[in-house]
Amino acid sequence: MNILAIESSCDDTAAAVVRDGREVLSGCVSSQIEMHAIYGGVVPEIASRKHVEAVAGLADKAVSDAGLTKSDLDAIAVTYAPGLIGAVLVGVNFAKGAALALGLPLIPVHHVRGHIAANYIAHPDLTPPFVCLCVSGGTTAIVDVRSYTEMSVLGGTRDDAAGECFDKVARVLGLGYPGGDPMDKLAQGGDDSKYVLPVAHVAGAELDMSFSGLKTASLNLIHNAQQKGEALDLPAFAASFGRAVSDSLVPRVIAAAKMTGYGKIAVAGGVAANSRVRADLQAACAASGDRLFLPELKYCGDNAAMIGCQGFYEFQAGHTAGWDLNAFATRDISLG
Ligand code: KG4
Repeated sequence: MNILAIESSCDDTAAAVVRDGREVLSGCVSSQIEMHAIYGGVVPEIASRKHVEAVAGLADKAVSDAGLTKSDLDAIAVTYAPGLIGAVLVGVNFAKGAALALGLPLIPVHHVRGHIAANYIAHPDLTPPFVCLCVSGGTTAIVDVRSYTEMSVLGGTRDDAAGECFDKVARVLGLGYPGGDPMDKLAQGGDDSKYVLPVAHVAGAELDMSFSGLKTASLNLIHNAQQKGEALDLPAFAASFGRAVSDSLVPRVIAAAKMTGYGKIAVAGGVAANSRVRADLQAACAASGDRLFLPELKYCGDNAAMIGCQGFYEFQAGHTAGWDLNAFATRDISLG
């Protein structure tokens, strides 16, 4: 089954063709990062307008890059939630038009379910049930993936997402947007115990997290140093920050794997590319005996291949949409 997948939930327009949920035949992305970097974050209206400009050409390219024609397609999958609403609407409306014109089924895909499915590309042996640590710019949650299409949140952040915290701190350091990757690179070789940053615990909710205190403490530390004219040891600060984020995430997903008894952990979303988080997870899983599945770096951030993967399983479960499909800025992952 060949699925043309469309993703436009934030600042990347993406299209891909995926066969039978696991084989990526093509994938193309039009990044808007340079445009939004001027403003230090994503400007929603600019994002929507850039999606409008890019989406049709990318879809056409994805089909020809796959060595196919439109008549070889069997369905259209699209991210319909969650995300910047104007941005998601562009993808949904394009997908709806394409499905109508080509006479194909329309498959709505939850963006975070797509991130989870990115693991299926690199790991043909990964099958549910497993727990997945979903960490991106908008989401930080530990998800119980009971089957390909049945999932629920076991725990998550009570405030900021981990990626957002990376981005805010990086912005104050002048590292640009998005800040996760430059913070990661800056941290290489830094002394991670030089600055003591808080790792929050939510009383009575073992799997929940909080990043707002870490963000505030980090910003205060940077501002205090600036006011006193003291130079921060930037690699040590970035390493200490990465350690605090990882110390929040890793023990909780290990606890979730133990709680569910699945023995399998996957990771998803932009922050899944973080070298400290990946290394700490590898060490923790080696100690706990859990099997760890990491997505390829190119499929950690937003892409359309992951939407095509999850779309296949949603289709198998009978989850197709009518012509009244709408977009949602927020939506619980358990609802699909
Ligand atoms: O999944 P994604 O591309 O978009 C969302 O769905 O949110 O994630 C983007 C987030 C940004 O906050 C970015 O700074 C972060 O992922 N990120 C990283 C790294 N690469 C991207 N955070 C930490 N370390 C990285 N290497």
